[in-house]
Amino acid sequence: MAIPFVSSTRSIPDTARGPRHVAIIMDGNGRWARRRMMPRVAGHARGVESVRAVIRACIDNGVEFLTLFAFSSENWRRPADEVSFLMQLFLKSLQKEIDKLHENGIRFHVIGDLSAFDESLARLIREAEARTAGNERLTLTIAANYGGRWDIMQAMERMLAASPERRSGFDEEELSRHLALAYAPEPDLFIRTGGEQRISNFLLWQLAYTELYFTDTLWPDFDERALADAIQSYLHRERRFGRTSEQLKGGAEDTSGDA
Ligand code: IPE
Ligand code: IPE
Ligand code: MG
Repeated sequence: MAIPFVSSTRSIPDTARGPRHVAIIMDGNGRWARRRMMPRVAGHARGVESVRAVIRACIDNGVEFLTLFAFSSENWRRPADEVSFLMQLFLKSLQKEIDKLHENGIRFHVIGDLSAFDESLARLIREAEARTAGNERLTLTIAANYGGRWDIMQAMERMLAASPERRSGFDEEELSRHLALAYAPEPDLFIRTGGEQRISNFLLWQLAYTELYFTDTLWPDFDERALADAIQSYLHRERRFGRTSEQLKGGAEDTSGDA
């Protein structure tokens, strides 16, 4: 298997540009709806509009990978009717949007434990992935029934299964090749809407050196403008990856070899 990207703890990525990979926890749908005296699920339905807007804005801003947290492995704890609404919404949105995604050159992926999903949804996901596999404009990943700890565990199991005779000597690179997002560089920019400042078991491994951005804006209100604000904030960060500020100013790119 090809190794497309090296981990940010091992080598330093090129940061002299806007984010290549943006990962978002789309939070605040329920509160958006409750504030309007509507049922929580109305906020989820409205949140699909924000997904459309953010996909467009990512393409306009030269983002190559967009990863959206749609349903966590912990979200099964919600009331059954909300969970079932979310599954239906995912199914219907995918059915409705897949042609447009494909026409727009978007490669579609889902990460997460699909074994818990309805067979019809799982099949639709696999078909959409296969159909859009050759697209190169933007890779859109939906994290569904995803948990960062699940990801690390499944990667470890697959790594061990790949060389059953070995007991030691594994390194980070080897493990990361088995992570669900192995086809993408690590996120440059993480955004969480809805005001909470936590990771909620999202991409635990991959966020090691990601710039974090939290906004009170609720997901259904998040739009092109809001994304531009997040990218502006990112562009003002100094990504040091363990080095000193002086090293960066002295143009220390050539010290970027493996740790
Ligand atoms: C995020 O919005 C969507 C999902 C977790 C599926 P929430 O439903 O968590 O909205 P709040 O946080 O209750 O407002
Ligand atoms: C995180 O949102 C998961 C998604 C956005 C899909 P939650 O709203 O479920 O997060 P917690 O549980 O409040 O941290
Ligand atoms: Mg929430």
